[in-house]
Amino acid sequence: MKKIELHLHLEGAAPPAFIRSLAKEKHIDIGKIFDEAGNYAFDDFWHFLKVYEAATSVLTRPEDYARLTRAVLEQSAESGVVYSECFLSPDFCGGRDLGAWREYLHAIRETADDAGRDTGVTLRGIVTCIRHFGPAKARETARCAAEAAGEFITGFGIAGDETAGKPADFAWSFDMAREAGLRLTAHAGEWGGPQSIRDCLRDLRVERLGHGVRAIEDLALVDELAEAGTVLEVCPGSNIALGLYPDWRAHPVRALYERGVTVTVSTDDPPFFHTTMQNEFDRLHAVFDGDDAVLDRINRNALDAAFCDADTKARIA
Ligand code: ADE
Ligand code: ZN
Repeated sequence: MKKIELHLHLEGAAPPAFIRSLAKEKHIDIGKIFDEAGNYAFDDFWHFLKVYEAATSVLTRPEDYARLTRAVLEQSAESGVVYSECFLSPDFCGGRDLGAWREYLHAIRETADDAGRDTGVTLRGIVTCIRHFGPAKARETARCAAEAAGEFITGFGIAGDETAGKPADFAWSFDMAREAGLRLTAHAGEWGGPQSIRDCLRDLRVERLGHGVRAIEDLALVDELAEAGTVLEVCPGSNIALGLYPDWRAHPVRALYERGVTVTVSTDDPPFFHTTMQNEFDRLHAVFDGDDAVLDRINRNALDAAFCDADTKARIA
């Protein structure tokens, strides 16, 4: 199956060996972020965020992001992915300085074009602010996003610690991104419950939710999401690896789908969670009792909900 992925953090897709070698090359002390087998190691979501930021601290130059972009596209291609929307963070790419951000973006985009031709994976970027970095930094990030809006940068989003601050604090940034023509998504309903989702939809007016799975705790909300066609970027392997649900059987992806929500499936941060798009689809196959039509529907939902233009959609369909 030609897969469409809508929720992938570029830094979060960095193989641990790649981060280790850059740390060594640059003599950067990233602390104890790997286990004995060399994999990323963390105890819970908040620890994961610290490990993520430590790993990202070795990505100090546009060329590091160029190498990372190629590695990520090659990884995606192995899972049969033909289109990927990747979260790009000006916080990490040049510290939100507009001039530096342009250089990072140029490197990412050039590599995406070259590696896209080699791998057959089309990449698009969603500029993302980081909730626990606060609203002032998010405003600077929105400026980076707005000036980059176009064929490659298609969206704006928010990631990070959903329990920090409230969506209304970020409304200015989302308004700016919307006015620049960007499509909108927000991480919500992962570490926050139904109210967090309601607040996000009301204050940020997003059309997609990163995760959104905790809507299942309020069936009236599930019905509202289904009715409105709000798209969920569900990342079951991520939710399980981070301990939100104990296993695939306990995960609400099937319940959400069966109640009519527009479900899509992605990996989030694949090497952190020991997953790939192929693995997510294999597991999904079992969850839906081998019903291939459901997997096709979920992938079709992702194509429909992708933020790219119609010509790109026609090409990847
Ligand atoms: N950044 C990277 N992965 C994330 C996740 N699962 N939730 C929130 N922010 C993230
Ligand atoms: Zn995410």
